[in-house]
Amino acid sequence: MPNAAMSFESEPIGRVMSVDTMRVFIHVDDHELLKQVMVGNLIAIQGATGHQFLISIVERVTRLPSDSLAATEGAEEEAGPQAEEIQDTIRAVLVGTYRSKDGAGGPSFKRGADSCPQIDQPAHLIQGTNLTAFMGVLSQDVPTDKALKLGHFAIDPTAQAVADGDRFFQRHAAILGSTGSGKSYTVAALLERANTLNHSNIILLDMHGEYASLAKGQKNGYAAYFKVAGPGDLAKPKPESLFLPYWLLNRDEMLTMLLDRTDQNAPNQAMIFTGLVGESKRKRLQEEKMKEVEATFTVDSPIPYDLASVVTELDRLDNEREPGARAGTDRKGEWNGKLTRFISRLRAKIEDRRYGFLFQPPKESNVYTWLQGQAVTFLSTTCTTASGIKVVDFSEVPADVLPTVVSVFARVLYDVQFWMQASSRTPVCLVCDEAHLYLPVRADADAASKRALDTFERIAKEGRKYGFALLVVSQRPSDVSRTILSQCNNFIALRLTNEQDQSAVKSVMPDSMAGIADVLPLLDIGEAIVLGDSILLPSRIKLDKPVATPLSLTKNFWREWSEKCSNADAIRAAVENLRRQVKA
Ligand SMILES: Nc1ncnc2c1ncn2[C@@H]1O[C@H](COP(=O)(O)OP(=O)(O)O)[C@@H](O)[C@H]1O
Ligand SMILES: [Mg+2]
Repeated sequence: MPNAAMSFESEPIGRVMSVDTMRVFIHVDDHELLKQVMVGNLIAIQGATGHQFLISIVERVTRLPSDSLAATEGAEEEAGPQAEEIQDTIRAVLVGTYRSKDGAGGPSFKRGADSCPQIDQPAHLIQGTNLTAFMGVLSQDVPTDKALKLGHFAIDPTAQAVADGDRFFQRHAAILGSTGSGKSYTVAALLERANTLNHSNIILLDMHGEYASLAKGQKNGYAAYFKVAGPGDLAKPKPESLFLPYWLLNRDEMLTMLLDRTDQNAPNQAMIFTGLVGESKRKRLQEEKMKEVEATFTVDSPIPYDLASVVTELDRLDNEREPGARAGTDRKGEWNGKLTRFISRLRAKIEDRRYGFLFQPPKESNVYTWLQGQAVTFLSTTCTTASGIKVVDFSEVPADVLPTVVSVFARVLYDVQFWMQASSRTPVCLVCDEAHLYLPVRADADAASKRALDTFERIAKEGRKYGFALLVVSQRPSDVSRTILSQCNNFIALRLTNEQDQSAVKSVMPDSMAGIADVLPLLDIGEAIVLGDSILLPSRIKLDKPVATPLSLTKNFWREWSEKCSNADAIRAAVENLRRQVKA
């Protein structure tokens, strides 16, 4: 059934007074009518034909004394107060074109203004039944099989706000908002919607362990849950323990972690280490009888190798002596003493239990086909036994290696997706929660974060071609790589109080939307400005809450201080946990 069309029989609210590319200024004659208009309201301006209306969003409502009028006319008279001499203006930004009849079809709406509004054309406030009719047209344009329900429009709480799910994920999206504004809830709501599809495929990088409540087995839970192994999981890994063995790291990632670039021997250390790793990988391929791989692999290829024997060989070179010039004497070998510091850094990392998920992986992760199994786990959709929604908990990963670990994880998955036969790829979305922690602005990045940026910027730029999308989530948009944010085509901008963050968000939005973004600090919790190519009309939307909610990390200080006593045993146990580096 086609939607009802808007019709405007009553008096217009005003007339077009001036126009620049995207903005119109509307002059309002009836001062009473101006009181009905609020920022965020929609205005329909009569277009070139009777059926066509240009739709705009109110950015500013002003009432000014008309000084110019008063000055010319009232020059000789007594200058008394002239209450009537005021000018009422509405400034609005053009967003699209509405047709009450589109050929033989019913009403339609499309983005972009088809024509420029003409001076003196009547402008109508869209309200009441017209608003309902207009909102109906907005949702009718997203086919049901693509509809991603987000919530309800703030200007019409009865109207459901739907985005085009294809477009939302196709070219990366971002969820931005101050802490407590509702980002995690929004992420959970999106996952929940995706989970209703038969073959969804989303991997969520969870930095605080907030999303463990979405795991299958929890109340209303559905997601597959993994946790990067902590020191307590090394001896007896749990089924959900995730290891990222050292051999997944490519040359640069490994060296970023191990090399001290200020050491004068750094270039030699890098060269020798890389050479030994390459040899060790070759040896493994020979043992596995992987002739074809052996013919073309590189030192960056993820092939299991024996790190212990690499260390032994480094030791040998570091202590090597060779025959001297005179018979019976010897002297230091070429690398003698030059590798000592590198070896001790490597040893320290290998022995540090916090890095166990990298350097002390269980035996089975050394099996040649282990990576195949992991790739299948993480890139599979709901059609296999596990859920296509996967939560990966990074909460126990030491902060200094977080960028490296996150980027290795993302890179390996992306590389697998890249090398997959195009027709067999299923699209996958990587949700980067708390992105400012590992995807900083490049100028502020240390060596490890720069590596992570290289990986993620590559995904941001090329991911679309391989069906690999990013959903960037952050409370500090001004601290997130601009390159990555500017590749995002859809934004859910929740309340943002910090001015720097607001301008970071505005800087990646289209210019004409800057006025709409002015309300960012005033939004309610769970309320957002949604804009991008997935939604026809950039809108203020009250987002739906998920059924399975993320764990709340917010403590009610005042209430708990009045109700709850501390627990000395728990404090003592925490000290032991700290010593053991295991959360009991
Ligand atoms: N869509 C929503 N509607 C109503 N309340 C919400 C909504 N989203 C979040 N909240 C409330 O706000 C709190 C903080 O949300 P959360 O998603 O954890 O914020 P953030 O991740 O941005 O720090 C939640 O505990 C919840 O009570
Ligand atoms: Mg959060």
